[in-house]
Amino acid sequence: FSLKKYNTFGIEAKAKQFVAVHSAEDLKTILQENKSQRKFILGGGSNMLLTKDIDGLVIHIDLKSKKIIEEDDNFVWVESQAGENWHEFVLWTIDQNFGGLENMSLIPGNVGTTPVQNIGAYGTEIKDTFVSCKAMTIENQENKTFTKDECHFGYRESVFKNEAKDQYVITSVVFKLTKRNHKINTSYGDITSELEKNNITNPSLKDVSNAVIAIRQSKLPDPKELGNSGSFFKNPILLKSDFKKIQQQFPEMKYFDISETEVKVPAGWLIEQAGFKGKRFGDAGIHKNQALVLVNYGNATGQDILNVSKDIQETIFKTFGIHIEAEVNVI
Ligand code: EPU
Repeated sequence: FSLKKYNTFGIEAKAKQFVAVHSAEDLKTILQENKSQRKFILGGGSNMLLTKDIDGLVIHIDLKSKKIIEEDDNFVWVESQAGENWHEFVLWTIDQNFGGLENMSLIPGNVGTTPVQNIGAYGTEIKDTFVSCKAMTIENQENKTFTKDECHFGYRESVFKNEAKDQYVITSVVFKLTKRNHKINTSYGDITSELEKNNITNPSLKDVSNAVIAIRQSKLPDPKELGNSGSFFKNPILLKSDFKKIQQQFPEMKYFDISETEVKVPAGWLIEQAGFKGKRFGDAGIHKNQALVLVNYGNATGQDILNVSKDIQETIFKTFGIHIEAEVNVI
């Protein structure tokens, strides 16, 4: 079974077996019936790089529906099943004037995988509105609800990438959104300038969403046209003391303070400075508008992309003494 259509990098890799599940009951049955099989859980396929065929059963999580489960005068609690497309879900919340997700418009992938890496963009992360998620253990099909605290969210990090890795299937997620007094967040530079360009001074949720969509479309390739997985690397976090030493040699280096003791350096800047932006090696390349994004021009294999990523990592380390870590899940 070809997985090409099921990963946004558009990598040709095969699964020994493939099944799509549409309900939690289905999922339970499939897991029970395939106890001894090797299993691989697939959501929207937007944050992974397949470097080989999958010798086992791929279970595609396709649970749909979204609903309001609770509300008061100011807030609404919305539950979405894991297989809902993230961006369509965001647009649905904006249409109803529910605030909190607008800065994360147009992020590829499905709702169920958003907690795994605490997706974020333009000054917001899902941990800011996340309440809880339901999950099923792969081993025994037990249901567990993870509260926000139990998710141990960090920058592109959660319990699902660490202690709980490969043990659960997330089946639904609850978000707490605003009904009024929306906390419009336009602090991220690009949003402010995009709104100014359109003479918008008092932006609505929709205005912010539209600004984010315009920015993303201007620099991030559409996976339907050019295979990619968004940012391939995380932005490295350095101790200020280490950063100060590096800065003496590279005074132009961009950085953002993230705490009293740490700074975050944009990996895109490092990659661009190292000369990789827009480069192409066969069918694998580095996007011309955003160096943090690796792309598949058509027939790159996962290994081709991985090799380019390693070359970038080594060069960045040699040039700046900084290690950049992959954000995508390499399989
Ligand atoms: N930069 C460069 N060259 C580049 C790209 C970026 O010099 O080719 C510099 C920019 O000049 C800017 C800084 O890096 O000063 C930050 O760039 P940008 O705003 O594009 O954001 P980013 O740090 O590269 C992160 C997220 C994105 C998210 C944007 C906006 C990570 C790993 N990536 O990218 O998330 O959309 O911020 O919030 O944190 C994703 O995770 O897949 C993703 C696209």
